[in-house]
Amino acid sequence: MRDMPKILLGLLIFVLLALFPVIYNAVTADAGTPPDLVIETQNVPGKSDCVIPGEEMRTKHMDMLMEWRNDVVRLDDRYYHDDHGRTFEKSLTNTCLDCHSNKDTFCDRCHTYMEVDPYCWDCHVIPQELEGGTR
Ligand code: HEC
Ligand code: HEC
Ligand code: HEC
Repeated sequence: MRDMPKILLGLLIFVLLALFPVIYNAVTADAGTPPDLVIETQNVPGKSDCVIPGEEMRTKHMDMLMEWRNDVVRLDDRYYHDDHGRTFEKSLTNTCLDCHSNKDTFCDRCHTYMEVDPYCWDCHVIPQELEGGTR
């Protein structure tokens, strides 16, 4: 069994590679401080809660936005009805950014921290910006 050390080394490397995502997440999750998110939604009655509970929105908003886009563009289905009788336009600008009026200290701050860079605003207008681009 002269190959034993090699086999063990190979196994060790394999295990480390397999565990890499877990180790990486554990290390990076602790790195730095979590972003200081500012919830600055328009303080209008009925405009206080997120479309779905914030906890859920945190992990589901990407999928929800993609679903909304498909609904609008492919099915011309432009409205979302929640369980509490509220109706929202399925719109990135007119809904999400209308209520979350501070994209920079909310959306951007978390995305920067998480190292995601949504390309949506190549076309979609940020409300404070001048016209040009789609809603
Ligand atoms: C009517 C106002 C309103 C609308 C519209 C709205 N939000 Fe929210 N959102 C809130 C409020 C208030 C909170 C914080 C309270 C809570 O966590 O439920 C929140 C929480 C969140 C969170 C979780 C933040 C955290 O603490 O981790 C995310 C992410 C989010 N919203 C994204 C979106 C996106 C994307 C849209 C559009 C699909 C959207 N919101 C539409 C009001 C709104
Ligand atoms: C609490 C943190 C957090 C907040 C706040 C947040 N996001 Fe995100 N967002 C993420 C993460 C994390 C991802 C990447 C998820 C992935 O890659 O699976 C993401 C991805 C996205 C994507 C998909 C990007 C792509 O290219 O696939 C969109 C669109 C998006 N966010 C829009 C918004 C908008 C609009 C707001 C503000 C109203 C917002 N997000 C607020 C954490 C956040
Ligand atoms: C190349 C330009 C372009 C990019 C990039 C883009 N969109 Fe759009 N989007 C459009 C156009 C055009 C429409 C159709 C507008 C309409 O019918 O109201 C649309 C419609 C939508 C709608 C429904 C209508 C509305 O008012 O929001 C959603 C939601 C949406 N896009 C989400 C996204 C998200 C999320 C991203 C980024 C992950 C994104 N889009 C990136 C061009 C773009």
